[in-house]
Amino acid sequence: MTRKLFVTTALPYANANFHIGHIMEYTQADVWVRFQRMMGQEVHFVCADDAHGAPIMIAAEKAGKTPQQFVADIASGRKPYLDGFHISFDNWHSTDGAENHELSKDVYRALRRQELIDVKSIEQFFDPEKSMFLPDRFIKGECPKCGAKDQYGDSCEVCGAVYSPTELTHPYSVLTGATPVLKSSEHYFFKLSDPRCIAFLEEWTQTPGRLQGEVFNKIKEWFTKDEEGKGGLGDWDISRDAPYFGIEIPDAPGKYFYVWLDAPIGYLASLKNYFGKTGRDFDAFMADEAVEQVHFIGKDITYFHTLFWPAMLHFSGRKTPDHVFVHGFMTVNGGEKMSKSRGTGLDPMKYLGLGLNAEWLRYYISAKLNSRVEDIDFNPEDFVARINSDLVGKYINIASRAAGFLTKRFGGHLSADLGVEGRALLDGLRAHAATIGELYEEREFGKALRETMLLADRVNEFVDQNKPWDLAKQEGQEAVLHDVCSVCIEAFRLLTIYLKPVLPALATKVEAFLRVEPLQFADAARALGAHQIGTYEHLMQRVDMKVVEALFEAPPPPKVVPGGEDIAPEIKIDDFSKVDLRIAKIVKAETVEGSDKLLRLTLDAGEGRLRNVFSGIKSAYKPEQLEGKLTVMVANLAPRKMKFGISEGMVLAASHADEKATPGIFVLEPFPGAQPGMRVR
Ligand code: MSP
Ligand code: ZN
Repeated sequence: MTRKLFVTTALPYANANFHIGHIMEYTQADVWVRFQRMMGQEVHFVCADDAHGAPIMIAAEKAGKTPQQFVADIASGRKPYLDGFHISFDNWHSTDGAENHELSKDVYRALRRQELIDVKSIEQFFDPEKSMFLPDRFIKGECPKCGAKDQYGDSCEVCGAVYSPTELTHPYSVLTGATPVLKSSEHYFFKLSDPRCIAFLEEWTQTPGRLQGEVFNKIKEWFTKDEEGKGGLGDWDISRDAPYFGIEIPDAPGKYFYVWLDAPIGYLASLKNYFGKTGRDFDAFMADEAVEQVHFIGKDITYFHTLFWPAMLHFSGRKTPDHVFVHGFMTVNGGEKMSKSRGTGLDPMKYLGLGLNAEWLRYYISAKLNSRVEDIDFNPEDFVARINSDLVGKYINIASRAAGFLTKRFGGHLSADLGVEGRALLDGLRAHAATIGELYEEREFGKALRETMLLADRVNEFVDQNKPWDLAKQEGQEAVLHDVCSVCIEAFRLLTIYLKPVLPALATKVEAFLRVEPLQFADAARALGAHQIGTYEHLMQRVDMKVVEALFEAPPPPKVVPGGEDIAPEIKIDDFSKVDLRIAKIVKAETVEGSDKLLRLTLDAGEGRLRNVFSGIKSAYKPEQLEGKLTVMVANLAPRKMKFGISEGMVLAASHADEKATPGIFVLEPFPGAQPGMRVR
């Protein structure tokens, strides 16, 4: 019976282009999907941009765009990545699409009918400087469970705990650096602590075969209450106050769904959008018991997909996911944190731009993947070795060794006989189809590729023993040469079937060379027989280590301004807010005996005392030009002992790197109206 599969990957936030982690996830799902298609299954593989939430709203504001425009611009950059890495989604949509607005409201209304929605007034962090409630991701502090520093307000990246931002120790606003204040507001909750929810989720998560063992163990921790009755499932806050970019909650003016409520519903919305285009009945499909719903996700979003999401589906009268396949994280060069500025990351677009073959990366990622939640690392030497010695050295080589003789000596006709030894070899290769298929099914891609490469080894041994290059020189060995080369081509076809989920573009080239229909998994059971093949053209190059190295060279510094000084490395707003800048009045300015650079300034920053500051501006100003003027002073700089006395601050002035070059030095002066003591931010 044909399986009906509805497959998704996580919906990426629409605030940035894809990074290598996204490509890793899409590769894993795409290999599985392509395998299923090769098995003749009916597959619908969809994704979408995760458009909503305060972070995207804030990023759009910074970019001077509407959130809709901002998200559309990101969406328009998706295709080159997806096509470039051969990711075969059937549809790409957005969680801001009409389908998602409608479906999210439907789900919510159903939950409300089930009396699983609660309204409670809660105190929440509010940024007094920005005048808005702070989204979880814009509050940082110490994890209440493990004490790790600089953790976000919703979950801890160190211990995996999920909590509310008010539980953080020493919180601060990422937007302004201000200490957030508590302010109360009405919020809508999904009552996950309801006994019906707990009973459902305990059963759902325990159903054998649904979740990976390690994922289930993690979930158990989330369920369990400690001796004091703390922990366990709490009600889930699903609303956010305006201003927010999201979907308005029915009958609740000024309230929006928290992005994580409508995000997974976006899976359904993308499928509905797709079926709308192809004229299929979405509701009938979703109600079909035979449909298997499969989500590929990374480990960081397990909680949302194994608790909230199935509960939302179940209590809104829908079927729940059959599988949530969780993968680990991809790291680069030994697990260093990915950083663009230091050039240690692997930028997928740069990879393609350098002319590196997308299928090398698909092969490398697949060779490292298994069905567990393990991180995998990209290592340049390992990458080059696996491609050059396995993929090219073992697999491609088989075709290139045999094809020339077949074309030149036999007009591209394959022998149907193949000889006893050859037939035995091929039977051995065919016998592995089931095992390799199972390994793909179980997402043990590394094992599937290892099996396949062992088979390639067998074929190469056969070639080495039979030495077609010698046979070609010997008289009366025509038939043997024909058989040996034909065996190679048939073996190459079989190996291509086993590799096709990982190497779809290469397989297409092989199909053209062999003059066969698109290869299916069942084609492993057949034989080509007396078949006419096309001419062989080189199928895949070796990797050049130099190009891989270029991938990791740091990009040039961002910008060079006139005057030749580079923009300093990026800082965060809290780095900036450490510098206390104040308006100060220059009460007195005088020359300094024995110094041709310095002026001694007496500054009033409204502190009820005066400060003594030495400033290297003598070349540009006469003391009388400065007296009585306002300027900007660094007020929290450690006092510095100089030859002429103690300097208790610093006055801001503009200049090129070479101060002596024209036009010189310019002391800053505020617009009229500023008062001594005001902070500059
Ligand atoms: N928008 C949410 C998902 C909503 S799903 C209804 C989100 N987006 S994301 O862009 O941050 O991440 C998308 C996917 O990429 C997630 O599955 C995440 O785990 C995965 N990855 C992000 N970084 C990763 C690596 N370094 N390695 C592998 N996958 C990782 O979360
Ligand atoms: Zn923690």
